[in-house]
Amino acid sequence: MNKIEIHEVGPRDGFQNVSEYIPLETKIQIIEGLLAAGMKHMQITSFVSPKAIPQMKDARELALHCVGKYPDADFFALVPNLRGAEAAWDSGIKSVSYVVSLSESHNQANINRSHEESFAELQKILEAFPQLQVCLDLATTFGCPFEGTKSEDDVLPFLKPYVESGIRTLNLCDTIGIANPAQVRRTIDAVRSEYPSLDLQIHIHDTRNMGMVNTLAAIERGIDKVQSTLGGLGGCPFAPGASGNLATEDLAFMLSEMGYEIDIDIRKMTELARYQATAIPTGQFSGHLYMIQDNH
Ligand code: COA
Ligand code: ZN
Repeated sequence: MNKIEIHEVGPRDGFQNVSEYIPLETKIQIIEGLLAAGMKHMQITSFVSPKAIPQMKDARELALHCVGKYPDADFFALVPNLRGAEAAWDSGIKSVSYVVSLSESHNQANINRSHEESFAELQKILEAFPQLQVCLDLATTFGCPFEGTKSEDDVLPFLKPYVESGIRTLNLCDTIGIANPAQVRRTIDAVRSEYPSLDLQIHIHDTRNMGMVNTLAAIERGIDKVQSTLGGLGGCPFAPGASGNLATEDLAFMLSEMGYEIDIDIRKMTELARYQATAIPTGQFSGHLYMIQDNH
């Protein structure tokens, strides 16, 4: 049976898009609920400027608590710069997602850096923290709110210096939910053939109701690490029009029905998504399963 690792990114990608501050206790309660439902891999926060994303002002406290209490869980965090990587490492985080956008204009809007500056900053992180696991989160891989559609012809040359500098894990992020399955397959094939050493992951938003088909296209192309968010909560405050991610419980349900091994308790996950929708009523959700009350 094929095993798929679902990586929950709701406590980062989901929470970051909620403007009202979510109390630390609620965040921890949801993270603990995810663990109880069998989730092992989780992006719990981001170490970013609190001016850019006020919701993440408690990153250090949250990470210290979670890593201290659950030392065996695979917790990771998003970082945009060296300062974020330092704070993550100090909080016990051993694995980070370093975010850069394929589109330079989205990189400027999101990180306030040029491509060159973002690349230089990553070199500082790799040098300062050789033991930190770094995944390159390539935002706007398939398209950008400012520059339009992107293709593998943009992706391949962009990646070259990153691969040469030692990046081994790449997360193909459809930040605004604009990809289609044919493009997903083409991009994966092209990246694999050019950079066979890369371990690939996928991260799809559900803006156009294509979260599931695009993620499935990636899985059927051999990707076994996929990101999603509880309830489909999500979005990028710096990408106009972006909506929620693919919902974890919906993805888990489909994969389980298809015979994939996922090690997730779908009932617990769905109940947690339902709870989250009441605890965070202002969030943007794209899930379906949690709205079905009687399981028919
Ligand atoms: N964590 C906490 N604070 C940070 C920080 C970090 N990783 N990096 C910078 N800061 C603080 C600085 O100390 C400074 O604070 P001050 O004004 O009180 O002195 C302020 O943020 C600005 O720092 P600067 O280095 O000039 O950054 P900037 O204004 O050019 O912004 C980023 C750059 C990367 C810090 C900011 O754009 C950011 O955090 N972006 C993340 C966006 C995001 O999370 N998007 C969604 C996820 S894809
Ligand atoms: Zn995202």
